[in-house]
Amino acid sequence: MEQIEKIIDEKIQGQALVTDNKKENTKKLFIESYGCQMNMNDSEIVASILAKEGFNTTQNLEDADLVLVNTCSIREKAETTVRNRLRKYNAVKKINPTMKVGVLGCMAERLKEKFLEEEKIVDLVVGPDAYRDLPNLIEEVDAGRDAVNVILSKDETYGDVSPVRLNNNGVSAFVSITRGCDNMCTFCVVPFTRGRERSRDPKSIIEEVREMQEKNFKEITLLGQNVDSYLWYGGGLKKDFKKASEMAQATAVDFAQLLDLCAIEFPKMRFRFSTSNPQDMSLDVIHTMAKHKNICKYIHLPVQSGSNTMLKAMNRQHTREEYMELVDNIFRIIPEMALSQDMIAGFCGETEEDHQDTLALMEHVKYDFGFMFAYSERPGTLAAKKMEDNVPHATKKRRLQELIDLQLKHSLYRTQQHLGKTEEVLIEGTSKKDPNKWKGRNTQNTVIVFPKEHYKLGDFVNVKVEDCTSATLIGTAVDYSDNN
Ligand code: SAH
Ligand code: F3S
Repeated sequence: MEQIEKIIDEKIQGQALVTDNKKENTKKLFIESYGCQMNMNDSEIVASILAKEGFNTTQNLEDADLVLVNTCSIREKAETTVRNRLRKYNAVKKINPTMKVGVLGCMAERLKEKFLEEEKIVDLVVGPDAYRDLPNLIEEVDAGRDAVNVILSKDETYGDVSPVRLNNNGVSAFVSITRGCDNMCTFCVVPFTRGRERSRDPKSIIEEVREMQEKNFKEITLLGQNVDSYLWYGGGLKKDFKKASEMAQATAVDFAQLLDLCAIEFPKMRFRFSTSNPQDMSLDVIHTMAKHKNICKYIHLPVQSGSNTMLKAMNRQHTREEYMELVDNIFRIIPEMALSQDMIAGFCGETEEDHQDTLALMEHVKYDFGFMFAYSERPGTLAAKKMEDNVPHATKKRRLQELIDLQLKHSLYRTQQHLGKTEEVLIEGTSKKDPNKWKGRNTQNTVIVFPKEHYKLGDFVNVKVEDCTSATLIGTAVDYSDNN
């Protein structure tokens, strides 16, 4: 196993997105997404913008007038996957020569015009902050010209674009709250491809959640590269906050306050959020989580390494000790909290001792879930420019496997702690293995399957946990919970 990709992402990687189609629309759009949830959400924004331009979505590549692929640059493998898809589109273009191909997202931003030279079949290159320009760019392409817009923005949050929901279970949805990242972790390409960090107006966030509630959605995940850094002070980049007027600074809304606003405004809606960065996570957020039952008790808290030397080389703004203190505080305030990690095995200069520090940190936290990756050098990052990618491939793979094995042990330990308990579960769909069973998640984000009986999709149900694997709880519903 090369790596464990995020479980929720993996299922929808590269799946063509389909929306409710409008009768009057005559053109056909095939759009697929790779990478993080933010990309999935951005594709919904793109489909929404293009629905107004006469495009309906199709699942049939051969029928498409326009093919868009929303791309990921986070690891080399992600880019290779996209290159392979372009090959496939090229084959289809031979049958359907009028079909146009556009590349969106992080690879578009990273490679810019170079894409047009490298991949002759690409007609359109659009970065993550330029989707509003798509109608103009498509006109350019229709007029026979290549079109590129990779300008990054100071204030684009697509706050007023109501995303159409694609391939959705009708129960849980994502709402973006920040874009970009200012952290500059030395291994990471995101600050280059998604630009500087900015936050979205809480009013437009609340409005979008309200729309979702009206459509009967039951769970919202607030999305951002670094949600804890959320700060609304009237618009603009996070780094310019200090330049804002005294009034704007005094009335600013931070992440804890945004969570509080959401939880109070929508008491029946479940809220999750992702991703948290340890350096920006305040205990206010934990106290707000403790205060509201409808904020799920789960934090994705990537640490990347348990070694202070590596954390420093990665430009993570905290030590191993500070991270452990944060974790201890979280468990003190909310003992039932679930935590998950991202780890990188074999970063530049990583010694066996550094690796042991990571294993020891994992042993301390005993994460519920984990997403582990072998380090993949990304062009343009500080690590690529200044550090040597000197851990041999075989060593990276061996260390990665050790991280995965330990995580599986901890995941099993964590699922076992649920045995015998009765927990509130939101029904999200049918179990893949058994059509007579529902699957859903408890507040900790652990998947539970149980017999369907008379319960329905979107119900909140109390489920008694009777058995488990390292990834799944198995139980029986006792009754509806009081959240229906
Ligand atoms: N803050 C972001 C992190 C995005 S990248 C978020 O919203 O999740 C997701 C994970 O990919 C990172 O936490 C890191 O563990 C991993 N990653 C990033 N760059 C990488 C690289 N160059 N090689 C291997 N893994 C990487
Ligand atoms: Fe990347 Fe670090 Fe930001 S991992 S997305 S630069 S927090």
